[in-house]
Amino acid sequence: MHATLSYDDPGWEDKVRQICAEVENVESAPLLVMHALMDDFGYISEPALVLVAELLHLTAPQVFAVATYYHEFRLQKPADTTLMLCRGPACRVQGMVGLRKTMERLLGIAVGGRTPDDKFAIESSGCLGICPHAPAMMIDHDLAGRVTTEDLEKLIAERTGAPA
Ligand code: FES
Repeated sequence: MHATLSYDDPGWEDKVRQICAEVENVESAPLLVMHALMDDFGYISEPALVLVAELLHLTAPQVFAVATYYHEFRLQKPADTTLMLCRGPACRVQGMVGLRKTMERLLGIAVGGRTPDDKFAIESSGCLGICPHAPAMMIDHDLAGRVTTEDLEKLIAERTGAPA
């Protein structure tokens, strides 16, 4: 799902209040709220985390523990483009290393990093489930298979405005 709201919007606190009110008496309320924030905002900001703690009558460390326990929750605004490389076995034998080197060369960052202008982040993941189409990757929310270094060069050039 693509986030539709921003913590820069003036009404973000009202939205968080609404989300918390909907799950107020549910046992797994913190977890449900984290999922809702991810869906709506794309990540969980620190002020949102503090507000959630207050609204659910928990401490900030309790809410922080939930937010950091699950890998799918992000506490940092995503880069404009996130390139997630599959490091599963099929992709490794089908050219993943070449893709990784291309990304690192063109963007000047390693896997796990993000460019200083927040335009790109490179991440890696276990098998993305499309092994017959290896090497595979996610480009933001979209799965891509049989990715070539030329595909990557083109995509990065398009999104940076640089010549391919
Ligand atoms: S190993 Fe990459 S999609 Fe399965």
